[in-house]
Amino acid sequence: MISETCIAPVNIAVIKYWGKRDEELILPINSSLSMTLSTDQMCAKTTAAASATFKENRMWLNGEEVPFEGNPRMQKCLDALKRLAEAEKSKRFPLEWKLHICSENNFPTAAGLASSAAGYACLVYTLANLYGVEKSELSSIARQGSGSACRSIYGGFVEWVAGIKNDGSDSIAIQVQPALHWPEMRVLILVVNDSRKKTSSTNGMLNSVNTSDLIKHRANVCVPQRILQIKEAIARKDFKTFGEITMRDSNQFHAICLDTYPPCAYMNDTSHAIVNFIHQYNETRGDVKVAYTFDAGPNACLYLLEEEVANVLSLLNKVFPNDNSENSEYVKGIPIDLQKVRPA
Ligand code: ADP
Ligand code: DP6
Ligand code: CO
Repeated sequence: MISETCIAPVNIAVIKYWGKRDEELILPINSSLSMTLSTDQMCAKTTAAASATFKENRMWLNGEEVPFEGNPRMQKCLDALKRLAEAEKSKRFPLEWKLHICSENNFPTAAGLASSAAGYACLVYTLANLYGVEKSELSSIARQGSGSACRSIYGGFVEWVAGIKNDGSDSIAIQVQPALHWPEMRVLILVVNDSRKKTSSTNGMLNSVNTSDLIKHRANVCVPQRILQIKEAIARKDFKTFGEITMRDSNQFHAICLDTYPPCAYMNDTSHAIVNFIHQYNETRGDVKVAYTFDAGPNACLYLLEEEVANVLSLLNKVFPNDNSENSEYVKGIPIDLQKVRPA
C-alpha cells in the first residue's frame, strides 16, 4: 500500500463567485477574488491510499462513508490526475489500483465556510502527491471539483479570472499578491450556526442564474469594476476601499439570493445583527476598520487589521456572548501554501 496525507486551507472571497456559464466544466459568469487563510486553524486534511487489494474506490468524509464512484466531481478530479500520471509516465504504482480516501475538515462542513474549496483543493493536491505528478495544472483540476477550490491552491490574494473561452482554458486562478504583501491582514470567523445549509452553493447559484435579473447586472457591470478597484486597494494596502468593496459585494450577492425565485435566504437574524454591529463600530471609529463578508451561509467572516483585533473581539464577546454552540470566534492568521504532512 502507498499513501499520502496533505492539508489545504480555505479561502474567503471578497468578490464572490456566484453563477456558472458551464455546469460541466465549472466555468463562472464572473471573476472572483479571495484571500487564502492559514492552515493553523481551519483546514481540510486528506489521506489517500492506493493498494492492489482494494476492490473499489471509496471515500470517507468526516468519518462517514460518502459515495465516490457516484460523485461525478470526485470522479472528474481523479480521472484528470490519472491522465496526468499516464502522460508523465509516473510509475509510483499501477494506475489500476483502487483508492481509499479519507478526509476531515476541522471546521463546519457545508455551512458557508468554504469547505468545498479546502476539500477539493486538498483532494487534488493529495492525489497529485500520491500519483507523483507535476503540479502546474492542479488549480484547473480543483476547479472541476468545486469552483472556489481553484483559488485555495494558491496563498495570499487570489483572483479566479472568469475567462471567455468555451473550453475553460483561460478560466484560471492567479495570485495577485503574496501573503506577505499585507501581513497585518486578519480574518475573524464568527460561527453563527454550524449546521449544513439547506441549499448547497451549487444549487443556490443555479437557481440564481435561472431566475434572478440582478445577477446579470452584477456579473456584467459591478464585478468587473470592483475587481479592478479592489486589486488596486490591495496593492496600496488601502483598507478603507478594500473593506467597503468587500461589504458592498457581500450585500449584493445576498440581494441576488433574495432576488432568486423562490428566494434563498442564507443570512439569518444574527448575521444581520453582525452587519449592524460592524457598521456601528466603523461609524464610532470614524473610518472603515472592519469589513464583513458572508458566503452561502449565516456565518460571518470579518476582515480587519491586526491592530483592531483585540478591540473587536472584546466587543463581540460582549454583544454576542459565546455559549459554545453559537457565535464562537476564531482568529485566523494569514495565507500560506498547501502542505504535505507525514502519513498519519
Ligand atoms: P461550503 O460553503 O462549505 O463550501 P458547499 O455547499 O459549497 O458548502 O459544499 C459542501 C460540499 O463540499 C460537501 O457536501 C462535500 O460534498 C464537499 N466537501 C466538503 N468538504 C470536503 C472535503 N474535505 N473533501 C471532499 N469534499 C468535501
Ligand atoms: C458564496 O465553489 O462552493 O462561497 O462550484 O458549485 O462547488 P461549486 O460552488 P462553490 O461556490 C462558492 C460560492 C461562495 C462565493 C465564493 O467562494 O466565491
Ligand atoms: Co463551497
